[in-house]
Amino acid sequence: MIATVTLNPALDKTVYVDKLLPHDANRIIKIESDAGGKGINASRVLKELGSETVALGLIGGPTGSFIEHVLQNEGVRTDFVRIIRHTRTNIAVQNADGSPPTMLNEPGPQCTADALRKLKAKVRETARKSYAVIFGGSVVPGAPKDIYHDLIHIAHAEGALSVLDADGAPLVEGCAAAPFMIKPNIDEAGRLVGAKLQSEAEIVNAARALCDRGVRLVVVSMGKYGAIAAMDGECRRATPPRVEVISTIGSGDSMVAGIMHILCKKGSLEQALKLGCAAGAATAMTNGAEIGKRDNILKLLDRVTVERIC
Ligand SMILES: Nc1ncnc2c1ncn2[C@@H]1O[C@H](COP(=O)(O)OP(=O)(O)OP(=O)(O)O)[C@@H](O)[C@H]1O
Ligand SMILES: [Mg+2]
Repeated sequence: MIATVTLNPALDKTVYVDKLLPHDANRIIKIESDAGGKGINASRVLKELGSETVALGLIGGPTGSFIEHVLQNEGVRTDFVRIIRHTRTNIAVQNADGSPPTMLNEPGPQCTADALRKLKAKVRETARKSYAVIFGGSVVPGAPKDIYHDLIHIAHAEGALSVLDADGAPLVEGCAAAPFMIKPNIDEAGRLVGAKLQSEAEIVNAARALCDRGVRLVVVSMGKYGAIAAMDGECRRATPPRVEVISTIGSGDSMVAGIMHILCKKGSLEQALKLGCAAGAATAMTNGAEIGKRDNILKLLDRVTVERIC
């Protein structure tokens, strides 16, 4: 089983307008609501691929219940800790011309020490039965910034691998616990090593430097250009096929799920990167925060190339 943990999930609301006019009344054409959060997305993709998964994290109020509902309707098992304050709502305003949406993101609800204690107990219990635990996304207000460090230690102590997909201080702090895998995109990787990464050589060096800090598998994703992976002193370049892109939100989370789905079945890193790229590309072909579907992921699989580069 592969468990996921989302500390600060969101009800993602996409509001469609003809053209957003600031300081004016805008007529809404349609509204779509979905469950959002990096761990949640990874669980949904894992379920698509046929992996056993459970989504953990913190949820509260009717917005939290909505998320639980969406996941359960899709057959994704959930085991959230309930908090008193309401799960946040993130709003994306989408123009009809398909230009990038205007995002309005809440920081998220304040959580209590008691909720964090309960979450740690659930992670401990679940990690014992899991191949890996994927930790994803921003840290909820009220949680210490080294929370991922603690959670990764708990997962390791119970014999599970850990994956961290975060940014900024939570990623830096979490890396100090030597997670099995991280999947920063190129900007996140740059912030992590304190340098702007442009050339492939710079990305390879950054990935290797992160391996030297104790991370076993570093995958730096580069959107349509694919990803560079470093593991056990070897580096690989994975390149997705050119696809019709609609919205890349969730592509990174899909890539993490694809990689871990294969590694859990004892597949090779090459196969893992192939499925990761195919899942990321399939999600880039869907609307808003939707994730790629199994049939499309499998259709794209043979068009991904993986080469050893050093
Ligand atoms: N436009 C695209 N065309 C083909 N594949 C893509 C495209 N965008 C993303 N992918 C695939 O998905 C992977 C992850 O994408 P990306 O680097 O955008 O992640 P990210 O920035 O972490 O995304 P998010 O955090 O929104 O989930 C890429 O390495 C690539 O394989
Ligand atoms: Mg990402």
